[in-house]
Amino acid sequence: MRVITTIEEMQSTITQAKNSGQSIGYVPTMGFLHEGHLTLIEKARGENDVVVISIFVNPLQFGPTEDFSSYPRDFEHDKWLAEQQGVDFIFHPSVEEMYPRSSSVTVKVNERTDVLCGKSRPDHFDGVATVLTKLFNIIQPEKVYFGTKDAQQVAVVEGLVNDFHIPIKVIPVETVRESDGLAKSSRNVNLLPKEREQAPVLYQSLLSAKKLILEGERNHEKIISIIKEMITEKTDGIIDYIDIYSYPMLEEIQLLEGKIIIALAVKFSKVRLIDNIILEIS
Ligand code: PAJ
Repeated sequence: MRVITTIEEMQSTITQAKNSGQSIGYVPTMGFLHEGHLTLIEKARGENDVVVISIFVNPLQFGPTEDFSSYPRDFEHDKWLAEQQGVDFIFHPSVEEMYPRSSSVTVKVNERTDVLCGKSRPDHFDGVATVLTKLFNIIQPEKVYFGTKDAQQVAVVEGLVNDFHIPIKVIPVETVRESDGLAKSSRNVNLLPKEREQAPVLYQSLLSAKKLILEGERNHEKIISIIKEMITEKTDGIIDYIDIYSYPMLEEIQLLEGKIIIALAVKFSKVRLIDNIILEIS
C-alpha cells in the first residue's frame, strides 16, 4: 500500500494502472475509519483490480460554526486499517494541495438540498459536490462507493454524476451499525458516556416507525410523532429534523407509497447524529 499526497503523483499512478488495463474502485472518506468505511472498502476490494481511498477532511463542506477543527483524525491508525483491508493507495492531500488558492469554479447543487441536512447545513452539499468533482477527476474510478447512512449525499452524488455525465458508477452500501443499533460514525467518539447510552434510541425510533407502517399506518404526523416522542423521552438530544420524503428525489409526498426515506438528525452536546431508513411501500 502506498500513501500519495500530491495530485500529480496520484494522477500519474492512475494513468499507469489504467494503461495496464486495471479497473479502479474508489472510496472517498474523511478518515477516522470505522467498520462503515471498511465495509465500503471490502466491497470495492471484491469488485476492482485497484482500490483507492481518499482521506481528506474537506473544509468546504463544514459551516463556520461546525466541527471542522474538532473532526476526529488519526492518520496512522487509518493507514494500518486500510492496509489490513487490502487498499492499494491512500490519497491523503493537504488542504493547500486541494485548494491552493480561492477557487475560480465551485459546484452548486440545485435539487434535493433544501430538505434534511441541506436545510440545516447550507452550502454543505455544494462543498461535498465540489470536492468530489475534483477527486473524481484526480482518481478517475470506474466505480465509487458511498454509504446510505448519508442517504442525501448518495442522492446528491447520483445527481452530480448524471448531470455532469461523469462516467462513474455510484454503488450505495447499507448502513453498518454497532451491536446496539447505533449507526457507526467517526463522530460517535464525541458523544458523552451518557449520550452514547442514549444514542441507540435514534435507530430504535426509526424501527418503531417502520413497524407502524408495516402494520398499515399511513399518517405522516402520527409516524413522525412516535419518533419524536421516543427521542425526547429517552435522550437529552435536541431534534434538528425528523422527516419523510420520496427517495431518491427527496420530494414531499402526500401518500406514503413507493420508495420513501424516514430520516432524522439529533444534536447532542458536542455532536450531531443522523440516521435513516429507506422503505419500499407497495
Ligand atoms: P465520511 O463521513 O468519512 O464517510 C465516508 C463514506 O463512508 C460515506 O460514503 C459514508 O456514507 C460512509 N459511511 C459512514 N458511516 C457509515 C456506516 N455506518 N455504514 C456505511 N457507510 C458509512 O461522507 C464523507 O466522509 C464526505 O462527505 C466525503 C464523501 C468523503 C466528501 O468529503
